[in-house]
Amino acid sequence: MNYSTHALAAKDSLIRQISMLAEKVDKPFKLYFGESDMTTPEFICRAAYEALQQGHTFYTNTAGYLDLREAIVRKFDEVHGVQFKPTEVVCTAGAVMAIHMAMRSCLDPGDNIILITPTWPVFSSIATLFGAEARAVPLQETADGFSLDLDAVAKAVDGRTKMLIVNSPSNPTGWIISENEQRALWDLALKHDFMIMADEVYDRIVFDRPSAPSFAKIATDKEHLIVINSFSKTYNMTGWRLGYALTGESLAKLMTKLGEFIVSNPSALVQRAGIVALRDGEGYVKEIREKYTRQRQLAMDKLKTISNVTLPTPQGGFYAFPKLDGLHDSLGFAKKLLAESRVGMAPGVAFGAAGEGYMRLCFAASDAVLVPALDRFKEFVEKNLCD
Ligand SMILES: Cc1ncc(COP(=O)(O)O)c(C=O)c1O
Repeated sequence: MNYSTHALAAKDSLIRQISMLAEKVDKPFKLYFGESDMTTPEFICRAAYEALQQGHTFYTNTAGYLDLREAIVRKFDEVHGVQFKPTEVVCTAGAVMAIHMAMRSCLDPGDNIILITPTWPVFSSIATLFGAEARAVPLQETADGFSLDLDAVAKAVDGRTKMLIVNSPSNPTGWIISENEQRALWDLALKHDFMIMADEVYDRIVFDRPSAPSFAKIATDKEHLIVINSFSKTYNMTGWRLGYALTGESLAKLMTKLGEFIVSNPSALVQRAGIVALRDGEGYVKEIREKYTRQRQLAMDKLKTISNVTLPTPQGGFYAFPKLDGLHDSLGFAKKLLAESRVGMAPGVAFGAAGEGYMRLCFAASDAVLVPALDRFKEFVEKNLCD
């Protein structure tokens, strides 16, 4: 059978490779996925149950219920101080579907996108799926973190560049883009007429401010901007599959047309639960932020005791991305770590070539998982990498 060359070329996720291996391990310590081990809070679960009782069992508007889109724009204004209209919102089955639809709407074969790396691998896989090239621009390593190389971004642009993807707060590095850097990228986007896709799914998971700066705040028009967000991380709703895109009306319309060919609309009862999450969830957001602040400190304190580990300070998101001196095969290392210590972490190379030499762990886990996993990791690194 001749399968699609683009589909075959899209890279399989190395994180999933580790998760599949973990299925064969007895009681693994799972720090490889981007989710906490807490279930969704009760008030959101109850809202879904009540939605079923109230008869929310039908197809909805493809872009999502109007009152969900109204709730999203209200929340966005409250958090970021920027107004969108409900017609500029497309609700999707998770952020990943919004990213997929946005790229499908903007890219033709032979086009290219620019990615700030290391980054979540799904962006480049989707671009490959549509016959587009993903161009990586690595962040520069600094003494305690990462910084953006604006000249390198400008050099990567050519006449076929259709999109620049910026994920901030970043998975896996925890880097947050500054407003000045956003402005510089925005000017570049206007000059060369490409889109900025700002993946802001971790915008509320920050430690020293109320929220990470949204690209929408500095954007001078909506036609060059797609903001991607999700209920997955903010409300611990990864399994529910609810995300959204905010963009100009014409792209929102096109994406909605494509939505019709994918899942028609995100599940009706999940949308109802999403409305309640936005309405009643501020206390919960505060609670998990406090929890992750503690878990982040715990992870940083432990990782800093390992002699050949350097840890960029995670400014946002819930990942630590330690660099290990002497590590050249992070995938092999992740497999061995899992097999011998039962600790599952994502290999840095899963986030692009710039991630080699690093490992990613999600610190949103409970103490019962995080503490022994870090102890075992330390022991494993000292045994296998230290002289
Ligand atoms: C940067 C980024 N965007 C999007 C997603 C996926 O979000 P969703 O669960 O809403 O599809 C993730 C999940 O790890 C992510 O890290």
